Amino acid sequence: MPGAKNSVLKLMAACLMADGDFTLTNVPDIADVVTMSDLLSAIGLRIDHDTAHGKLTITNPGGLSLVAPYELVERIRASINVLGPLLGRFGEVRIALPGGDDFGSRPIDMHLNGLMQMGAEFTIRHGDVHAFAEQLHGADITLDFPSVGATENLITAAVFAKGATTIDNAAREPEIVDLCNMLVAMGASIEGIGSTTISIHGVERNALRPTTHAVIPDRVQAATYIAAAAITGSEVLVRGALPEHMEMLLRRFDDMGITVEPQHNGVLVVGPEKLKSIDVVTLPFPGVATDYKPLVVTLLAVGDGVGIVTENLYPGRFRYVDELGRLGANIRTDGHHAVVRGVPRLSGAPVRAPDIRAGAALVVAGLVAEGETVVSDVHHIDRGYDDLVGRLASLGADITRV
Ligand code: EPU
Repeated sequence: MPGAKNSVLKLMAACLMADGDFTLTNVPDIADVVTMSDLLSAIGLRIDHDTAHGKLTITNPGGLSLVAPYELVERIRASINVLGPLLGRFGEVRIALPGGDDFGSRPIDMHLNGLMQMGAEFTIRHGDVHAFAEQLHGADITLDFPSVGATENLITAAVFAKGATTIDNAAREPEIVDLCNMLVAMGASIEGIGSTTISIHGVERNALRPTTHAVIPDRVQAATYIAAAAITGSEVLVRGALPEHMEMLLRRFDDMGITVEPQHNGVLVVGPEKLKSIDVVTLPFPGVATDYKPLVVTLLAVGDGVGIVTENLYPGRFRYVDELGRLGANIRTDGHHAVVRGVPRLSGAPVRAPDIRAGAALVVAGLVAEGETVVSDVHHIDRGYDDLVGRLASLGADITRV
């Protein structure tokens, strides 16, 4: 399984935190890594991506520019992850405010409020956030909601704050654990990794050292191949998938009749003859992640009854439902809920990928839709999937990239 997009992008930003040569391995060959490389290069890092071996060599030569320009920031949400490292280490940064997303507004108030508690000051001018703090200090911060990005920015900033910082109601996603593990290897002092309360003891600004780190496997890509096996009633070994990173999803898959057996090198999936319809609710980790939801809705679309899917993270993340409707799915949405009435079969049609995850789900739907399904706007899928077409074709799917 290629490395996780939502991990590698943050690990790349963490290379701003020490001078010298870093190596990241198990790096996925995805468009967002290219965008993040462009952003970090603009800030002053030197980056070499050996795509054949999934390896990134990142050199931080020091003397960085403390500006993250709009053209790059607006392309990926993870660009906001340069805020914590730069503000913590250099006491200043100017970063374009990230805009909304295809599935709704995505504010950064929790990032800014937490940093303010650590002594940062902000002005917002001409679409940029200017952040200053000669020296951040430790603070006791309680997040209103376990935001992934806010937790990451507060941890990276707190690494260089004077004294101790505690983050309560912190997000616990495996990608945050991966970031913390890399920071600890660099010399940071972090306790409570993977729990809802994280404590960081600040170190001097030049105390960290570069490291070599392997990116954790991508749990959303893994879930995509599990869903592909499930919907086609096939048996597939998803190599490198870590069941402990997707426990709640695997329980729901089990309820749907999908067998997922942990093996020493991944998980063995056996799809049922007919998928059972169930209700699913998205929640922060360890709940069923919102990023899995388009896959779940797609499986329910051919289930044996009615399933209700409730979205608790992004109210607007149901846009792809109309595209699934073009394939014959029977889905009604009402606010945070989608009522999915299973149909005996889908029928192929031209559809558009509205975002990364929904795009991949439409491809999975196309595997069982009668006739030809043409998914356009696949640049969205390229942002987060490392050769989806090639991997599905190698499993026997009749799929080509045009
Ligand atoms: N939120 C606020 N204020 C904040 C921060 C977040 O209101 O200051 C809200 C958001 O608007 C959203 C909710 O809190 O409604 C969750 O946001 P969170 O901060 O947890 O998400 P994120 O860090 O922006 C990451 C992933 C997303 C994934 C979410 C939730 C990256 C680059 N992105 O976003 O991944 O859906 O966590 O797990 O790590 C994707 O990969 O396709 C993707 C969208």
